[in-house]
Amino acid sequence: MTSEIPWKIVVMDDEPDILDVVSIVLEDQGYDVKTAANGREGLDLCTGIHPQIVLTDVRMPEMDGLEVLAHLKEKFEDIEVIVMTAFGELEYAVKALHLDASDFITKPVDGVALELALNRARERYISRKKLKEYTAFLEQANITQAKLLHRDKMISLGRLSAGVVHEINNPLAGILNYARLMNRILGKGALTKERQEKFSRYLALMESESQRISQIVSSLLTFSRKTEPTREAVFVTRLIDKCILLSQHRMRLANIALHRDISGDIPPIKADPHQIQQCLINLIFNAMDAMDNGGAMEISAGYDAVNKSVFIKVKDSGHGITPENRQRIFEPFFTTKNEGYGVGLGLAILFGIMEAHNGSVGVESTPGKGTTFTLHLPAMP
Ligand SMILES: Nc1ncnc2c1ncn2[C@@H]1O[C@H](COP(=O)(O)OP(=O)(O)OP(=O)(O)O)[C@@H](O)[C@H]1O
Ligand SMILES: [Mg+2]
Repeated sequence: MTSEIPWKIVVMDDEPDILDVVSIVLEDQGYDVKTAANGREGLDLCTGIHPQIVLTDVRMPEMDGLEVLAHLKEKFEDIEVIVMTAFGELEYAVKALHLDASDFITKPVDGVALELALNRARERYISRKKLKEYTAFLEQANITQAKLLHRDKMISLGRLSAGVVHEINNPLAGILNYARLMNRILGKGALTKERQEKFSRYLALMESESQRISQIVSSLLTFSRKTEPTREAVFVTRLIDKCILLSQHRMRLANIALHRDISGDIPPIKADPHQIQQCLINLIFNAMDAMDNGGAMEISAGYDAVNKSVFIKVKDSGHGITPENRQRIFEPFFTTKNEGYGVGLGLAILFGIMEAHNGSVGVESTPGKGTTFTLHLPAMP
C-alpha cells in the first residue's frame, strides 16, 4: 500500500470462516482489519474506530447489510462500503449501489475481485477527500478574497505613486518656469502687444500642465480609494487611458515604446471600474517587468461582435513565460520575481475579478519573444 498509515477496514459477516479468510487476505495486504459477526456489532465498531472502508455481507441476522449501508452513509459521509452478495442475489447488489455502495463482490470471495473492489473504494475515498479539501480551500479563499484584493491594490499603488511623483514633477517644473518668465517680463515695464501675446501663450501652457497634474492626481486617488464593489456602465477606453497616464513615466524610463490601438466605438461593459483598472495596471506592470532591456508594448481594445464581448489586449516583447510556469501563473503567490519585486498576487486577483465579471483571460506566450494577455468582458446589451 502507498500510504504510511494502514487503511482501517471493518469486515461484517455472520460466517466465522469467511471472516477468518478475508481477514487473513486483507491483513496480508497491509490493511488494519477488525471484524464483526453482525450488522449491529459492526456499526458500533465503526462508530468506535471510524474505518475508511467497510466490507459487509448482505444477509446477516439482527441488521442486514443494506441497513448497515444506509446507517453508515447517514452517519459517516466518507466511509466507502463494499457489499458481499451471494451468487444470484443481483437485486441486492443493485439496491446497494443505489444506496451509494462503492462496489459489490459475489461470494465465494475471489481474491482478485476483492483487491479490485478495494482499490476502487480507496480511489473513491481519496478523491472524495480531495474534493472536500478543495471545497474548504475555496471557501476560505473566498473569505480572504477581499483582503487579497486590497493587498494587491496597495502594492500596485506603491509602485504607481513612485512613477507618478515624476510625472507630476515635470509639468510642475514647467509651470514654475513660465511663472518666472512672466515675472521677468513684468519687471521690464509696460505690457506691449508682443509681451501680451507671450503672456497668453504661457498662461495656456500653465493651464494645460495644471490640468495634466490634476488628471494624474485624480486617477491615482480613484485608484487608491477603498471602494465598495459596484456594477456600472464602464467605457474601457477611458480606463485604459487612465492606466497609460499613470504608467507612462516608468515606460519611458525603461525604454519601452508604447503603441495604443483602440477602436472607435466600443460598447460599455457592466463592471466595477476600479477592479478592471486594477487588472489593467497589473497586466501593464507585468509586461514592463518582462522587458528589462526595453522593448515594445501594445495596448489594444475593441469589440468582438460574434461573442458580443469587449476585449483588451496587453502585448509585450519581453522574455515570455515557459510552458511549466504557464500552468501556475494564476496561482496566488506564484512569482518568478526576486523578493521585493513580486508577491505573485497580480494575476490571481485578475483571475478572480474576471470570474466575478463573467469574463475570461487568455494568455499566449513564446519564451524569448513576448507575451499577450487578453481580457474578454461581456458587452452591455
Ligand atoms: N507579461 C509577462 N511576461 C512574462 N512573464 C509574466 C508576464 N506576466 C506574468 N508573468 C509571470 O507570471 C508570474 C505571476 O504574475 P503575477 O502578476 O501574478 O505576480 P507577480 O507579478 O510576480 O507579483 P505581483 O503582481 O504580486 O507584484 C510572474 O512572476 C511572471 O513569472
Ligand atoms: Mg504582477
